[in-house]
Amino acid sequence: MNIILMGLPGAGKGTQASEIIKKYPIPHISTGDMFRAAIKNGTELGKKAKSFMDNGELVPDEVTIGIVRERLLESDAVKGFLLDGFPRTVEQAKALNEIMAEQGRKIEAVINIEVQEEELMNRLTGRRICETCGTTYHLVFNPPKVEGICDIDGGKLYQREDDNPETVRNRLDVNIKQTQPLLDFYSKEGVLNNIDGSKDIKDVTIDVEQILTNL
Ligand code: AP5
Ligand code: MG
Repeated sequence: MNIILMGLPGAGKGTQASEIIKKYPIPHISTGDMFRAAIKNGTELGKKAKSFMDNGELVPDEVTIGIVRERLLESDAVKGFLLDGFPRTVEQAKALNEIMAEQGRKIEAVINIEVQEEELMNRLTGRRICETCGTTYHLVFNPPKVEGICDIDGGKLYQREDDNPETVRNRLDVNIKQTQPLLDFYSKEGVLNNIDGSKDIKDVTIDVEQILTNL
């Protein structure tokens, strides 16, 4: 199962990915998470990515394609993967097709989670994440039982550095520009599935699962 989750910042890619991997034994590969881990660990990759991420810009294609190529060769990704936030440009999509062809496989489905722009600003500025297990909450739409504390492991909740209103605005503008060409690309490939991401989290999960069971 080789699946891509697409959607503007805040559409719910990470939220839906964590549900999908409970049912399917495939790794959740988020380029955003990989860059954040690299920044935290102070690696060369982190140094390359940091200024782009802080400004809500895309990390250059050659850097991003390189890390995905390596990641897809790891043993846990051999039987399938769930990509979250990659590809984000047509260049990245073409490179991914080449990587797939080299490995004798192909993308089976692209699930594009659609949400209106106005809603995304609310989602991102209200997002909170557990510092130990990474579970994502929302102050209003998906609050923890106790304010500031993770339901699962009691970890402290924090706000992502790029979830401030100015950076969110730029992330949305940058991603909106890239999205249509990418949708056209996957529509031509015949693998694009659009779903309504404005529904409740659980209802979006039902729609995602329906696509996956029909593959
Ligand atoms: P990345 O980490 O991928 O960020 P993003 O694309 O901006 O997306 P988010 O993670 O913010 O949103 P999401 O769709 O995962 O939403 P979530 O489920 O958390 O990338 C960060 C940066 O890294 C980029 O800006 C770029 O610099 C760089 N980068 C990454 N990939 C790259 C690439 N391929 N090329 C170049 N650069 C790259 O949900 C958001 C909130 O909404 C949560 O609070 C959640 O609880 C809530 N929520 C979710 N679903 C619902 C719902 N149905 N109803 C109500 N609330 C909901
Ligand atoms: Mg995410």
